[in-house]
Amino acid sequence: MVPENIKEEAQRLRDEIEYHNYRYYVLSTPVISDEEYDRLMKRLLELEEKYPELKTPDSPTQRVGESHVEGFETVEHTEPMLSLDNTYSEMDIRNFDERVKKLVGQVVYVAELKIDGVSIALRYKDGILVQAITRGDGLRGDDITVNVKTIRSVPLKLPEPIDLEVRGEIFMPVNFFEKFNVQREEEGLPMFANPRNATAGTLHLLDPTIVSQRKLDSFMYYVVKPQQYGLKTQWEALKFLESMKFKVNPHSRLCESVNEVITYWREWTERRKGLEYWIDGIVVKVNDFEKQNELGMTAKSPRWVIAFKFPAQQVRTKILNVAYQVGRTGVITPVAEFEPVELEGTVIKRASLHNFDYVSEKDIRIGDYVLIEKAGGIIPQISYVITDLRDDDEIPIEPPEKCPVCGGPVGKQSGEYVAYECQNPFCQAKLKRHLEVFVSRQALNIQGLGPKLISKLVNAGFVKDIADLFYLDVYMLSQIDGVGPKMISNLLTEIEKAKNASLDRLIIGLGIPGVGEKTAKVLAKKYTTIDDLSNTQVDDLMQIEGIGEEVANSIVSYFNSDKAREIIKKLKQAGVKAESIVKEENNILSGLTFCVTGTLKQFSREEIKNYIESLGGHFTDNLTKKTNYLIVGDNPGSKLDKAVKFGVTTIGEEEFLKMTKERGT
Ligand code: IVH
Repeated sequence: MVPENIKEEAQRLRDEIEYHNYRYYVLSTPVISDEEYDRLMKRLLELEEKYPELKTPDSPTQRVGESHVEGFETVEHTEPMLSLDNTYSEMDIRNFDERVKKLVGQVVYVAELKIDGVSIALRYKDGILVQAITRGDGLRGDDITVNVKTIRSVPLKLPEPIDLEVRGEIFMPVNFFEKFNVQREEEGLPMFANPRNATAGTLHLLDPTIVSQRKLDSFMYYVVKPQQYGLKTQWEALKFLESMKFKVNPHSRLCESVNEVITYWREWTERRKGLEYWIDGIVVKVNDFEKQNELGMTAKSPRWVIAFKFPAQQVRTKILNVAYQVGRTGVITPVAEFEPVELEGTVIKRASLHNFDYVSEKDIRIGDYVLIEKAGGIIPQISYVITDLRDDDEIPIEPPEKCPVCGGPVGKQSGEYVAYECQNPFCQAKLKRHLEVFVSRQALNIQGLGPKLISKLVNAGFVKDIADLFYLDVYMLSQIDGVGPKMISNLLTEIEKAKNASLDRLIIGLGIPGVGEKTAKVLAKKYTTIDDLSNTQVDDLMQIEGIGEEVANSIVSYFNSDKAREIIKKLKQAGVKAESIVKEENNILSGLTFCVTGTLKQFSREEIKNYIESLGGHFTDNLTKKTNYLIVGDNPGSKLDKAVKFGVTTIGEEEFLKMTKERGT
């Protein structure tokens, strides 16, 4: 039985946390600090751990589910999720207005931004979010509730215990999308074509923990069966959605006439570039629900609503060729080369085709006439293949059979996309990209060594792997075109300095697939030397929070390769120190993960966490099979049972302290 006062406290905490979530993620006006928020969350986690029956589905602790899901169930929609008619010109929108007026007389419109995301239906029962379903084929969609729950602007609980279904859009903010794609490129993963694809891909991941890191956001704009809630117009529905704590786009506008709609559309054609999310037009809706009903629908879309797309400024051009770019890890990206054309002030000669799935989906061929536009107003992209202009001389774009740079074998790698990659470990293209990463600011930070010079050094045969940089001398450098004495002296100083770079920087520089800055930091914390890290095992790595099987395998197979061994040997011989950021003597709990249950005598939760971390150990709130020790205090909670079930070693506080002392000597 949970004591009444605890129940009340948990409820208060849940409400408080969700209120601050709402302030932060929906209104963007937080009223407390991150620390304060973490404190509330911690307390709630503590209570729920002690009294698991407090873990309700609407608890903010349940946003990120604990485990992997196997797949998604298909669910029928309560009413079809329809697509909209599209128009592209002022004349089209005037025709729409004429048709509407002819059928139902004078109307008022609501003009909304058309968010370029993925549509979603959210079902609430007694005010609690129970299901989130994708559009699917319009009649049936995928139940992706576990993933949608991680989106902080989606309320888990409504202010009132009502049954409700709403619809709207999930999207990835542009600034996150851009960073995310750069990171994918750095980690050797294929990039996403646009935020919408990135959103759709993310929502179908089987691990909610990863979804929660992708910063997805939402706008709701539709209430199913609005009359049930006394709503008479779309405008009222938007206000109702706001009152139910959904995130509603702030730029919707009531328009008394079609001219006002056109003004709105013109305005946003310009303003859209300043938004944090991509929009591809506006949606114009008849405001009055009765009139909407009267208008009814055609076979495929309602007559009361229309999408008025922005004039994607498009130009026609021809694909002359496809080039293949080889990235650091060997991933091959196809790039279309066009007959140069001008678009919105710049001359465009090429556009990334992102990956081979994208090429086959759009059936893009060499020789095709295509329309290109700037996606989100910025990045040149093929928007349409003019198949009518084909003359059968077009050549399909296939993944290359050999690496376009070194002629090495090409292999297939499955992930969120199928990627093709050059498998020759000595490929020059890979080496050049890798050297660029190796000398970059996050890694060894060797200034003055740009892509051009790297290319020359590789072509001259002076640099065959990253370690060779430390063996460059005055003689070699003086052979390179355009490199003078001053530059040589600066470069050699920089290279000398780089020998003192910390271990985490070296790890980034090694370019292990899937290992970026964050992972490198945790690795350097757990392993004090590069030798330690190179002798590690998959199981050992997987005990580290944030490292999954794929990355663990990638790390181990990297260090098992002859090439890596040779590089590390050469680096050490050259005098590269790569010291860990954590001093060895303080690192006595390195590699161990601890969890705590119950009340400790000498430490608060925060204190023991800091203590463990200061000794190089890892502290976690969630007990898993990967946890090494559960420290048991007074009044332990359900974690103790879990530990027994998982076979996790339990120790008392005294024992823990003894352990740190023993290890410290
Ligand atoms: S209303 C029956 N409003 O555009 C009316 N749709 O091509 C349902 N979309 O599938 C749609 N922003 O995913 C509506 N403010 C907005 C929208 C919007 C984006 C998407 C939606 C729909 C697609 C139609």
